[in-house]
Parts: sequence; C-alpha cells; structure tokens
Amino acid sequence: MTTTARPYVGSALDRVEGLEKVTGRAGYAFEHSPDELLYAVPVQAVVARGEIRAVDVDAAVVLPGVIAAIWYGNAPRLAPAENAELDVLQSRRVAYRGQYVAVVVAETPEGAGEAARLLRVEYDAEPHDVELRADHPDMYRPDRVNPNYPPDTERGDPDAALAAARIVVDETYTTPAEHNNPMEPHATVALWDGDGLTLYDSTQGASAVRDTVAPLFGLPPGNVRVVSPHVGGGFGSKGAPLSPVVLAALAAKHVGRPVKLAVTRQQMFAVTGYRTPTIQRVRLGADIDGRLTAIVHDAFEQSSRIREFAEQTTTPTRMMYAAPHRRTTHRLVRLDVPTPAWMRAPGEAPGMFALESAMDELALACGIDPIELRIRNEPDADPESGLPFSSRGLVACLREGARRFGWAGRDPAPGVRRRDGLLLGTGVAASTYPVYRRPSRATARCEPDGTFTVRIAAADIGTGARTVLTQIAADTLRTSPDRVRVEIGDSALPTASLAGGSMGTASWGTAVVRACEALADELDRRGGDPPADGLEADADTTEEIDAQPLFSRHAFGAQFAEVAVDPDSGETRVLRLLGVFAAGRIVNPKTARSQFVGGMTMGLSTALLEESVMDREFGDYLNHDFAQYHIATFADVRDVEAAWIEEDDPHLNPMGSKGIGEIGIVGTAAAIANAVHHATGIRVRDLPIRLDRLLRRS
Ligand code: MOS
Repeated sequence: MTTTARPYVGSALDRVEGLEKVTGRAGYAFEHSPDELLYAVPVQAVVARGEIRAVDVDAAVVLPGVIAAIWYGNAPRLAPAENAELDVLQSRRVAYRGQYVAVVVAETPEGAGEAARLLRVEYDAEPHDVELRADHPDMYRPDRVNPNYPPDTERGDPDAALAAARIVVDETYTTPAEHNNPMEPHATVALWDGDGLTLYDSTQGASAVRDTVAPLFGLPPGNVRVVSPHVGGGFGSKGAPLSPVVLAALAAKHVGRPVKLAVTRQQMFAVTGYRTPTIQRVRLGADIDGRLTAIVHDAFEQSSRIREFAEQTTTPTRMMYAAPHRRTTHRLVRLDVPTPAWMRAPGEAPGMFALESAMDELALACGIDPIELRIRNEPDADPESGLPFSSRGLVACLREGARRFGWAGRDPAPGVRRRDGLLLGTGVAASTYPVYRRPSRATARCEPDGTFTVRIAAADIGTGARTVLTQIAADTLRTSPDRVRVEIGDSALPTASLAGGSMGTASWGTAVVRACEALADELDRRGGDPPADGLEADADTTEEIDAQPLFSRHAFGAQFAEVAVDPDSGETRVLRLLGVFAAGRIVNPKTARSQFVGGMTMGLSTALLEESVMDREFGDYLNHDFAQYHIATFADVRDVEAAWIEEDDPHLNPMGSKGIGEIGIVGTAAAIANAVHHATGIRVRDLPIRLDRLLRRS
C-alpha cells in the first residue's frame, strides 16, 4: 500500500485490494463453488407477447446429469414482488422476448446447456407492439420519474414566451436503447440451509438484494445473506436485483442443492435492463443577445408491460439555465419490450445530449460563442425550485476547460477546416449530476493490537470505494490507512445504501466518519488504549441526512471534444476529449480520474457506437453480443483527459465531496455531436453518429 502524508483524503492512495485483483485472488460471485454444486441454464421466451401453452421437459430431463427442469408448472411459488420483473416463473404470461420461461439444473454447465436447448416450450403468441413513437396512442404521464421526481414542471407562460422570442430553436433529438455491458456479467451462486439463503451475487448493493429477495421467499431479511466482496462493474444494471438472482435462488430451493447461474453476455440483452430509447423535443426561446426567455423540454420513452420504469430525461433541464418561462414533461408508453432500468446517469445522459445540442444550435443562431452563451444564462439560484445552489462550478469549469483546451480564437464557421483530407471541428457541452445521499450504518472497531476494522455493507464495483473509505476512516481515526481494514460487500455487515446514483462515497463516507468519530471519542475518554477485547462504536446516518438543510446540490462539468471526420466515409474520430469537473472535494485523485475518464469514454461510445436495434418483426433487440453491439475499444479512445477545479462546499457531507461516478458520461455525446457539426456543418440529432448519418446529407 502506498501511504502519503496526512490527510489521506485528497491523496492518490493505491487501491487497497489492487494486489488481490491483479493476482487473481479477489473472488467474484461466479468463482464460489460450494460442495454439491449444480449449474442452472435458463430458457428464454422466443415470442414477445403471449402465453406458455405447454413445456415438454421429457427430452431434457432424461439426459445424464440433469437434475430438474423448472417452469411455471412446477416452480416453487413466490410471494408477489413489488417489481413484477422478479415474479420469475410465476405465470404463463410472456411479457417480452427473452424473458425467463424455464431453467434447467444439471451437474455440469454443458449438461444444463444441452438440456435447455432440448426443452420444448409451446406458446400461444399474440401480436406485439415494440415500437416507440412520440404519437403512440398509449402514451401517458407517469406519476413520478426515477428516482422520485414529478413528471412535469412549469413556470410562467412558456408558449407565449416562445411565440414572442426573437430567436427560437425547436428541434427533436433521439437516443437509442443502449445496453449495460460491465466486464463481469451478472452471476449468482445460491445456497440454502434450511430457511437460510446465502447468495454469492454480483451486485451494487448487498443490503438491497437481501431486502428484496427475502420477502419473495417469505423470509425475514435476516435469513438471507448476500456476499459480494468484488464486482466487475455494473453501471446501474446491478443496482436493483433483477430476475437472474431470483431464478438462481428459486432453482436452488427446488433442487435442494447449491446452484450457480451465470448470465451470458447474450442473455444480458434481455434480462439485466437497458437505457430506454428517447424522443426529445427541445424548444429554446432567446433574445438576440442569447438570453433565454423560454425553455421547453418534452421527453417520450418506453417501459415494459410488467414494470413501470420512467426515466428522468428532462430533470437536468430544470436546473441548468436561467429562463423565466419553462416547462419539462415526461411521457411513457408500455410496450412488449424488456424492462428498461438504470444505466450510468439514467436521464441526465440522454437528456443533456438533447439540451446541450440545442444550446449549441442556439449559439450559432445568435452568433454567440457557445461558452459565452452558457455563461450568459447562468442562474443565481435553482431556476425551478428557487433554492440556493450549495455550490455551482459550471462557469469555472467552462473557463478552465477553455484555457486548457485552447478554445480562444476558435472560428465558429462550420465545415471549413481540413487536414489531410479530414474535416476538423471542436465542440463544447455542459455536464451536471445531482448530489444524492442516503442513510447508511457503519461500525468502527479498535482491535486489541491497536489497528482498526470498519464495517459497512457498501459495494466496490470497480470505483475504488473500499480505498476511499479506508482514507476517510484513517483521517477520522487520526491513523494511517495501513492500520485500517475496511470490510464491505456483505449484507451481514451494517446496512448500507446502493453503489448507485453517484452517492456511494457521500452516503457510506458519512456513516464511516460518524462511526469513527464515536470510536475516537470513546477511546479518548479511556485515555487512548483499547480494552483487551477491543472497542466498537456504530453510527446510523438516517437522522443526520433527514435533517440536512435544503439546497440545490449538483456537480457540474464542461466537456470539450475535437473530432476529425472523413468526408468520404463518414468515419468520425475523436482526437481529443477534455472534461473539467466541479465535484466538491476529490477524495482520491487516482480513482477519481478513472471514474471521470471511464464516464467520458462511455460517453464517446454513446456518441459514436452504442445502439440496440429493435427488430419489429421478432419484437426484440437484435444485436446481442459485442460483434453487433459496438462499444468503444482502445482504438477508438485516443486522448481523454479529466481535470477538476477546487471546490469547497460546506453543505454536502463531512468529506465535502460530490458524486463522480456518473457525471463523466453526461454531456460527452453532445460535445462530440457539436464538434461534428463544427467539422462538417451536419447536425446529427439522432444518436449514435453513424457513418450513414453523416453521408446522407453531405
Ligand atoms: Mo448508477 S445508473 O445510479 O448505478
């Protein structure tokens, strides 16, 4: 472990589990192999809507080593789930193509796979509807949008203000469905012991999996233990338990032996969530000097028949820019499609693509530099809530980014710069992400040898959570990180909030600070020496977080891109990406940089590559692997730089930190699309920026 001088918060500590990971000793969910282990291979629906008429298991169960074939007709009954996605094998209904309809359990994965292929499922198929259209007759207004915002907001008279505006931008932008593809696909090993259930699961929140799975099986939460010390990414797809973990537990219960279920990369395209496609209309009204008078942002999106997931696409538009007249709306249609869910910056990422593209269009319409346009529309307080911002670093990020990127003197004329036959352009876009914090519990213990153990059911999904909690504990205990052991990733530890919403460090860090403070106080009272059997203190941050004063709390950023577009092929290369962020205090510059650069890389991937294509005839996303669902690789990612400005915000948490896991992806796609326009004069309003979208009009 690298140690640096105190304080450790703010220092680039190496990952405390780095050696374990690079030497292969860190155990992931799939690597647990209890005695008597069996393997489960699911069978997925091949119709998008209908009913299972019959399942013929005969050909499957006669294979050697096959223990069971489970479907609705013989599955253990579960208590109904709040999220009907979890009612696995509890009905004959098929809600989407790819839904689990059966599972085969066998002594070997190969045997289970072969049996699953031989299992015959007969369906009564019904006509399906899988096409998102803004004018779909079943569009409705959801009661709330994720995680708990009103669907619509309005101030003033935006229609009148648009009618009166000297300059109007009125454009529609679309973003495709995108699928989460963390390095480690979802996996569960389920192990029953009487009424006790242990799940080795790849999850962003062990406490949440316990609390969700236990009632399905009629158990108190304490009967379920979820173990998840290392997780190979999630991006939101492992944020809430989905059907695979329930299927594993159900299969293990049915056969009375431990069961291992690994979701394949192909299966992930149906059962582990995806980013909803969006259709977004943005209307901006402005004076000739670029001051906004009206902002209207309407979003249309989809969910499945069995679960309403309404993404918060237009919520960032509520707080980004000043304008007296404003409206944001969300409309949702339930289709015969898999259930969308969280994917890194759900809402903010697609929403800010539309808003920040429209701002670029407005800058051109007004003849104003796009950075200056944003600065002119900087609000004094949150324009919708009226609350003061706890801190707002957007202008500082834009200015610092402009300096580092070399923005000064940029010729705004599109389509005029050529080098080696390529068209060159630069673009900018703003970024933002809300600051969330949720209650968590933690314990801190002084061991008899004077070292410390901190326990909290946090999750490190590759972010560096274990490392930053070690730094935070070390500072609070006035010791060094190598004397602190942080135990996370187990629901048997004190209950903690999710690794989601970019709120891990803020939520867990607060609990760790309070537990360590309580321990340090108690040690001081005892004159500094722990008793022979150690000393422990605990903390629960529910009251502290409920009582925090009202502020509009957000992180901000500025994204800059330089692109080269081949006018003959339409191929776009991102030559440079620079993100400058204002995210409170940076707890660990090394892991933070990885978070920012990772988010920006995912944003590049969003801009140019990622697109799940719906096949209307079969009612399914037809690209189910990396051969057809393209994500950015090393060759696509050239020069990506993340930087941040110092931000001292006393209204956040004991660390002074804002979340950094998601903001890196927000605004990146708009910056690239704006740069592509600057390079070519072609405005691509539909992601991704495919070759054909650039050639069509050139
Ligand atoms: Mo993130 S999409 O909140 O896990």
